[in-house]
Amino acid sequence: MTKPKVLVTRRWPKAVEVQLSEKFDTVLSNNDKPLRPCEFRQAFKEFDAVLPTVTDKIGSDAMELSRPRTRLLANYGVGYTHIDITSASSHGMVVTNTPDVLSECTADLAMTLMLMAARRAGEGEREIREGHWSGWRPTHLVGTKVSGKTLGIVGFGRIGQEMARRAHHGFGMDIVVHNRSRVASEILARYNAVQADDLDDLLPRCDFVSLHCPGGAENRHLINSRRLDLMRPNAFLINTARGEVINEHDLVQALAFETIGGAALDVFDGEPQIARNLLYSDRLVMLPHLGSATAETREAMGFRVLSNLDAFFEGNTPPDRVN
Ligand code: DGY
Repeated sequence: MTKPKVLVTRRWPKAVEVQLSEKFDTVLSNNDKPLRPCEFRQAFKEFDAVLPTVTDKIGSDAMELSRPRTRLLANYGVGYTHIDITSASSHGMVVTNTPDVLSECTADLAMTLMLMAARRAGEGEREIREGHWSGWRPTHLVGTKVSGKTLGIVGFGRIGQEMARRAHHGFGMDIVVHNRSRVASEILARYNAVQADDLDDLLPRCDFVSLHCPGGAENRHLINSRRLDLMRPNAFLINTARGEVINEHDLVQALAFETIGGAALDVFDGEPQIARNLLYSDRLVMLPHLGSATAETREAMGFRVLSNLDAFFEGNTPPDRVN
């Protein structure tokens, strides 16, 4: 029997690439660069499954073709707002993602950012590397205590809940959540959390606000100047979700005029391009989209894609189908 033809758009962990190549007629990425729309159109003519990731923008332009061969778009990553799901569905393509396996590591990184911003870790590191540290003194790089404070979690899915677990059980924080749907009381009870009526109700109640909602048009600029103004003047904003959730221009203003205490970002609108003004704020910690970047998680994400491929080509519904 001929093996399904599979295209992988970026370099993946070795162990996963090996298995993909054994099981399928696989073309791996040579140059590790995102595909352009014309390359996707070509790939959709040639391959049974295409395996993109967050850096591949698969808009309606990439789908402008008739009768594609591709029947499965198995995304490496949990977020899939970079894929035009309506166009994929109209071509009969099944789309899958990789939930669960990255929740813990993404929450770990959100905690890292929260602590770095509150305790001024980026500034401290820069000071040492630049040779400017003059020694311990009572007033040096004084930050904000995290333990026991109130954390607002926007989006209470798997990653949001892992964040709550760490913050509440590890750091004794009070948890307030905002979520589109009502969160079951037994889930809230695990973290002694309360659900706010809406986002505007949550923001003024929190010392830290961590974003864990999906990106895409629906949540574009969810955090804008009006909402930044609702935050406490010394509160911190953490984003490990998607860059477009924050209006970065408004965030720069809030940081410059000190209407919030600080912020920490792992994701950026239009990344890897970074809006210039973000670079100038010492109240801002930035990391290059590292949420799921551990060897264990990146491998688990790849194997999760494999299990979606296996199910699909055995004629079953893939476990992580999203459309
Ligand atoms: C995802 O999975 O959507 C991340 O942003 C990449 O880890």
